[in-house]
Amino acid sequence: MKLSVQLAPKNKQGLLLANPVMTASGTFGYGTEYSHLFDIQRLGAIVCKGTTLKPREGNPQPRLAETASGVLNSIGLQNIGVKALIKEKAPLWAGWRVPVIVNIVGETVEDYARLAGELDGVAGISGLEVNIGCPNIKAGGAEFGISPDSAAEVTAAVKAATSLPVLVKLTPNTPDIAEVARAAAKAGADAISLINTPRGMVIDIAKRRPLLGNIFGGLSGPAIKPIALYTVYTVAGAVEVPVIGCGGITTADDAIEFIMAGASAIQVGTANFSNPRAPLDVLEGIEKFMKKEGVKDIAELIGVGRIDKGQAML
Ligand SMILES: Cc1cc2nc3c(=O)[nH]c(=O)nc-3n(C[C@H](O)[C@H](O)[C@H](O)COP(=O)(O)O)c2cc1C
Repeated sequence: MKLSVQLAPKNKQGLLLANPVMTASGTFGYGTEYSHLFDIQRLGAIVCKGTTLKPREGNPQPRLAETASGVLNSIGLQNIGVKALIKEKAPLWAGWRVPVIVNIVGETVEDYARLAGELDGVAGISGLEVNIGCPNIKAGGAEFGISPDSAAEVTAAVKAATSLPVLVKLTPNTPDIAEVARAAAKAGADAISLINTPRGMVIDIAKRRPLLGNIFGGLSGPAIKPIALYTVYTVAGAVEVPVIGCGGITTADDAIEFIMAGASAIQVGTANFSNPRAPLDVLEGIEKFMKKEGVKDIAELIGVGRIDKGQAML
């Protein structure tokens, strides 16, 4: 049974995953936090926490609220900063079989380019995921993903600064995500990841105040799965680069839906909080499904659920 997928077919280095199951940024730390719980080397790839030029403390507490079938978060990109990541994390990753992708976020286009430049050529880093859709910080993140022009500008700047494969991660908080995806692909994105969290909020009625310290947050978990699936289906029909699906994936069946919609790989996020072994369960479930259905190569499933099948085959 062949499970491997190539996420950067146009990139010199390429980004070959042993299987299509990845972890979503911000929900799996730096990978090290989970390595005692299961064999994380079996995963397709690990995407680490969003990384900025300088370390960030993040937003005021509370930063997490449970909602119906979901979680609202306003972490605000708490992270150790790119220098510490290169010094402390990358050397560990260099000894891993599983590729690690660094999620980057800046406040300006130049920040993104500098981050990409600093990470270029660092042993242990197999690719970059450019977060242009974080709803939880004032400057940077979300606004770059709202318009096709700014998405293209960030993508081009990152591509010019690195030879690593570049995945561009989009926000659903935009009127036409397919247009944004097209612009990022045209500017050189090797693949498109989607979605980051749609914006939401909760009011604490006892306190008569917004519950989150940041007032607003990003919604994740099963509540957003249909939105994520819709965007994956739409974007996979709009671009020729691989699409990576993310949003509410909790089981293998969820993952297979995204793959059938046109995703070449998927990311497991919020599900890690209730079941730290979720990515491996998803992988084993996909294998079981393929065996049961007589599917020999995962490529046979990519985009098979599309009405416009041809367009999704990558
Ligand atoms: C606590 C938390 C922190 C997150 N941090 C990041 C981040 O640093 N960078 C990023 O691109 N996405 C971040 N995300 C978004 C996830 O990677 C993912 O896109 C989103 O949660 C949808 O997937 P899910 O429903 O499977 O969680 C975060 C999500 C959560 C819940």
